[in-house]
Amino acid sequence: MNILVTGGAGYIGSHMVRYILRHGLRPVILDNLVYGHKESIPPKVKFYRGDIADQKLVTKIIRKEKINAVMHFSAYAFVGESVLNPRKYYENNFSKTQKLLNVLLDNNLTHFIFSSTCATYGAPDVKKISEKLPQNPINPYGFTKLAVEKMLADYSQAYGLRYAALRYFNAAGADDDGVIGEAHAPETHLIPLALQSILQPARQLKIFGADYPTPDGTCVRDYVHVYDLAAAHLQALDHIMRNKTSDCFNLGSENGYSVREIISACEKVSGLKVNCQDAERRAGDPAYLVADSGKAKKILNWRAQYDLEKIIATAWQWEQKRRY
Ligand code: UFG
Repeated sequence: MNILVTGGAGYIGSHMVRYILRHGLRPVILDNLVYGHKESIPPKVKFYRGDIADQKLVTKIIRKEKINAVMHFSAYAFVGESVLNPRKYYENNFSKTQKLLNVLLDNNLTHFIFSSTCATYGAPDVKKISEKLPQNPINPYGFTKLAVEKMLADYSQAYGLRYAALRYFNAAGADDDGVIGEAHAPETHLIPLALQSILQPARQLKIFGADYPTPDGTCVRDYVHVYDLAAAHLQALDHIMRNKTSDCFNLGSENGYSVREIISACEKVSGLKVNCQDAERRAGDPAYLVADSGKAKKILNWRAQYDLEKIIATAWQWEQKRRY
C-alpha cells in the first residue's frame, strides 16, 4: 500500500513515515519544509517538496506513486499565533486542506486520515473528554481543525469519502534511536523546553500559571507518545477501509499530569535539575485536558503503550543527540 503523508517531514509526520516503513508499507512524503526538516526524511523514501494546495503537483503524485490513502499532518499548530494571525491558520489549515481533498476526490482517492486535536473541545469541565462531548474550540487553531472535521463529514455524506479524524491530546516523545524527535521553531511545548533547561540552564523554564483549580495549581494534560499516535493511524486506516466507514477518535493515555509532575519526571529521567520558575498564566490554556480513549480501545483495539517515563526517556535521548 502506498500512503501519501503530507507534512511527513514534521514532528508527528516524520514518526509516521518510519512507522509505515517498519510495517512494510510505502510512505510518500509531501512537505513544503516551512516547518518540516529535510534531515528527518529517510533516504529511501520518495519526497516531494511542495504545497498541499498545488493541485497539479498533488495530481502528479497520486498518479505516479499510485497512492491508496492519505494521512494529512501538514498544518500550523501554534495556538497563540493562531489568535494573533487567524488568517494564516484558516488559509493553511482549512482552505488548503479543502483544495487537497478536492484533488483526492477528483482522482477517486477516498481514504483519508486527518490529524485533529483535543483543542476542538475547548475547555470542557469534565474529568475525561469523550467523543460524545460537544466541540467548542476556544481559539482559531481549534476552529480550523473543527472546520475541517465538518467538511470531512459533509464530503463523506455527499461524495463517499472515508475518513478518520484523530483528535490527539499532547503528542510527546521521540524515536527510540534518538535520530528524529520534536523540533519546533520556536519551541513552545513543555517537555522539550523542560529538558532544554536542563542542558542549557540559561534557558529557564517558565511555569505558566500556578493558580489553576488543579491539585498543585498547574495545568494538567494527557501526554501520548508519537509512535502510539502513529499506530492509531494505521489501525484507523484499516478500520475505515475494512468497514467502509468514517469515524473520529480521541487519542490519549487517559492519564493526566500537571506541569510540576512533568518537571519532576524530567528530573527523574535525566537525574538533573530543571531550571524553572513560576510565571503568569499563558492566554488560552485550559486547566485540565485528559482523554477518554475508550472508543479507540473498543473499535480500533488501540491503547497507548508508552508510559510517561518512557515518553520522557525518548525525548531526553533526542535532546541530548539532536542535530537539527
Ligand atoms: N507550559 C509551561 N511552560 C512552557 C510551556 C508549556 O508551563 O514553557 C505548560 C502550558 O501552560 C500547558 C502545559 O505546559 O499547561 C502543556 O503545554 P504545551 O504547550 O506543551 O501543550 P498544549 O497543551 O498547550 O498544546 C497541545 C498541543 C496543541 C493543541 C493543544 C490542545 O501542542 O497543538 O494541546 O490544548 F492544540
